Amino acid sequence: MSDGKSALIDAARDAASRAYAPYSGFHVGAALLLKNGDVVTGANVENASYGLTLCAETSAVAKIANEGWIGELAEVAIVGGRPDGNALVGSNPVHPCGRCRQILNEAAERSKTDILIHCASGDGDAVKSYRLSELLPASFGPKDLGLID
Ligand code: THU
Repeated sequence: MSDGKSALIDAARDAASRAYAPYSGFHVGAALLLKNGDVVTGANVENASYGLTLCAETSAVAKIANEGWIGELAEVAIVGGRPDGNALVGSNPVHPCGRCRQILNEAAERSKTDILIHCASGDGDAVKSYRLSELLPASFGPKDLGLID
């Protein structure tokens, strides 16, 4: 596969290999495509105090925010599964959790884009694509606080 969607999913899969997930054993990678074509990735970061875990999408959005690029988001890919050697196992597409949908919404509103989100299985055979507005309808964001139009 050589199209943009597949390249973004491949970047998310590569990011998943750098997950720190010793408790769940579930590795998630997220790849954020910016409007200029750059790709920024993140992976989940777990913690011995389980509830403090950072999801892959949240880690990736924190990276773009810290670089001043929160308004530059165009598209997202998410891949998750259990590692088996260098591969990820899992046949179900991984969808962003509720908190991550809200975190992504912040960047999407700032980017003035109803971003496409590609959700891929660990084995790569299943991909479902959504607009953020499908995954988070009737959202609350900076527009509701009068910060953007
Ligand atoms: N996880 C993510 O990184 N993103 C999601 O959207 C769903 C869940 C992570 C959190 C935890 O480290 C592992 O997957 C199992 O829940």
